[in-house]
Amino acid sequence: MPGERSLSDVLRNSLNNSDLPFRDFVELALYHPEFGYYARPESPVGREGDFITSPLLSPVFSFALGRLIDEFMSRSGDAVWQVVDIGCGDGALIRALAQGAGGRGSGIGERPCAFFGVDRNLGRAQPQPDVTYATSLGDIPPAEARLIISNELFDALPFARLVQRGEELHELWVTERDGALDWTEHEADARYDEYFAERGIELDDGQFADVSLEWPALYGDLCRFVQRGLIVTFDYGLPQTKLFRGRMRRFGTAAAYSRHRVSRDLLVNPGEQDLTAHINFDDLRLTGERQGFASRFFDIQAKFLLALGAAEHELLKPVGEVTVDNAEDGMALLEARDDARRLILPDGIGADIRVLVQERGMGREEWGFQTKLF
Ligand SMILES: C[S@@+](CC[C@H](N)C(=O)[O-])C[C@H]1O[C@@H](n2cnc3c(N)ncnc32)[C@H](O)[C@@H]1O
Repeated sequence: MPGERSLSDVLRNSLNNSDLPFRDFVELALYHPEFGYYARPESPVGREGDFITSPLLSPVFSFALGRLIDEFMSRSGDAVWQVVDIGCGDGALIRALAQGAGGRGSGIGERPCAFFGVDRNLGRAQPQPDVTYATSLGDIPPAEARLIISNELFDALPFARLVQRGEELHELWVTERDGALDWTEHEADARYDEYFAERGIELDDGQFADVSLEWPALYGDLCRFVQRGLIVTFDYGLPQTKLFRGRMRRFGTAAAYSRHRVSRDLLVNPGEQDLTAHINFDDLRLTGERQGFASRFFDIQAKFLLALGAAEHELLKPVGEVTVDNAEDGMALLEARDDARRLILPDGIGADIRVLVQERGMGREEWGFQTKLF
């Protein structure tokens, strides 16, 4: 609206008319085209930002995915193929993958392939000649085989916050009380009652749950986009029996991130902190399987990266095999080695992020990442 100069103005105008479902509050806080968290010119991801993601943590992540690209390419024959990173942010991962593919001499220059980054907000995307950016899958030219990768896309989708009150499911809304944002409860939108009923999930009295109806909807779009290929999803999430287990997750999983600190205060500083919730991986898996995809892998990130050969990267080689010229380089190397290990250690990002890989039309043969390590 004219005269709005900040997200607070947008929210105040909106709340003057009526309270807002929390889901719509998240949509505004993260994706308002001018004042949303992801519309800000500075990247929220990275050491200087609010949280770190695997591609920005260590080059070992793109190194391991490079192995997957090699395997994908060798199985695609002469097909015109593409690698697409959806929810690519500033494009760090897709740029590294395109560069790595060229650098490894995989013959990409002569082969009919292309690298794309897709994000609903491309304001921070860094240009690179061999990467094309788009805001929608619909803008990408046709291809015979596709490898789709996403990292922390689904946990960044707007979500509703629900709570069971006796026999009734309630939905949390946002209101303004004495000049501050506050919570209020309404009977839940019927679509959330259906969500739990269809999945046979019963919440305990007083249990909170965070749900995005966009998890299966967006994944369905990816499935339709990939007639033949792989969809590789890295995200914070769990299968639904664990995600909605009352004893473990009575307060849901919604969290806010700012300056690498996590908080449960979801309403403070709208537009200046990230809001996220763990995803229901069964929504993705079942959506894919209903569209004819085979689930090839579902486990923690550490196992996936190791199965792809991450340990062969020089940052993960034994210390004795590495030489440095001076103390400064030695310190930098130690830090880089620590970051690389964080990707694959079974605490933190290595175990909290799960990977789902689904495949259609690429043959029955096992993939390298299906190798059992432990
Ligand atoms: C948590 S960030 C992850 C960025 C990057 N993948 C990384 O790992 O550093 C989530 C990204 O998903 C993008 N996003 C959210 N919804 C999207 C959608 N429907 N289509 C494409 N991108 C979307 C956001 O704009 C944001 O850049």
